[in-house]
Amino acid sequence: MLALVSLRGRDDLTDQVFAPAIQGLWPQFALHDPVADLYFGDPHFDACRDTAFAVVEPDRPDIAVGRAFAVPFAWDGVPGREALPDTGWDGVIRWAAEDRALGRKPDALSALEITLLPTHRGRGGSAVVLDAMRRHAAELGLKHMVAPVRPTGKEAEPLTPMAAYAYRVRADGLPADPWLRVHVRAGGRIERVAPLSMIIPGTLAQWRAWTGLPFDASGPVVVPRALAPVLCSVEHDHAVYVEANVWVRHVVPG
Ligand SMILES: CC(C)(COP(=O)(O)OP(=O)(O)OC[C@H]1O[C@@H](n2cnc3c(N)ncnc32)[C@H](O)[C@@H]1OP(=O)(O)O)[C@@H](O)C(=O)NCCC(=O)NCCS
Repeated sequence: MLALVSLRGRDDLTDQVFAPAIQGLWPQFALHDPVADLYFGDPHFDACRDTAFAVVEPDRPDIAVGRAFAVPFAWDGVPGREALPDTGWDGVIRWAAEDRALGRKPDALSALEITLLPTHRGRGGSAVVLDAMRRHAAELGLKHMVAPVRPTGKEAEPLTPMAAYAYRVRADGLPADPWLRVHVRAGGRIERVAPLSMIIPGTLAQWRAWTGLPFDASGPVVVPRALAPVLCSVEHDHAVYVEANVWVRHVVPG
């Protein structure tokens, strides 16, 4: 069984969730979305610590075996927010930063990431973490919970459009993708694809450093662990990764 511990006042657990053992589970390029600074950078992260968590085992509550990030935002009645944004992960982080700047009261929680150590995967732990996140949303008085989900199996099919991938189902009607399946089994409903969820621009030197690939020809480049090809322009000395994610809407208990 796993539990969530908020990172508020827990610098020890904060250090652990950003240490290489957990941070290093993500490919280098994924850590360079500039919008992420509005959550992880100073002073934003401190404002978000109530919904940033270490995942722990209850009998070893000081050891992080994973991490879970979410961000509260104002949804009901805010002009321009009638639908979940095409800009997915980036978009909801921007909404939340705007809300904090304007002092808007949040009524919704967006999950941003759940990562478990490989030793703690494959035993249903992620569903427990997702459920704990929904209960935290309820405890914080938030009415809605959503997630711009990064389907884990999509890494094996970078050339398939997300719209074709995300709605694939198994014979039992559940999503073919394992991570979307966890969300749907937990009661989540797939709302739509967010085609511009994470946009990661870089010079060719940066992309070479992040991936070890040559980036010496213009056109789409398949990068290990990316969900779509990175678009490279040698003439303009840049490459851009545009990752689609999938909006899932959850029910907050109570
Ligand atoms: C996403 C993640 C949290 C899921 O955690 P998990 O503990 O592996 O999840 P579960 O044990 O509940 O397994 C979920 C489903 O995936 C399946 N699964 C697990 N490993 C798999 C694999 N290597 N290949 C295919 N399916 C797999 C399981 O069978 C299960 O499906 P089922 O219940 O229908 O049988 C974990 O894989 C992880 O930390 N990944 C890296 C970070 C990441 O990509 N996070 C998601 C985006 S934020």
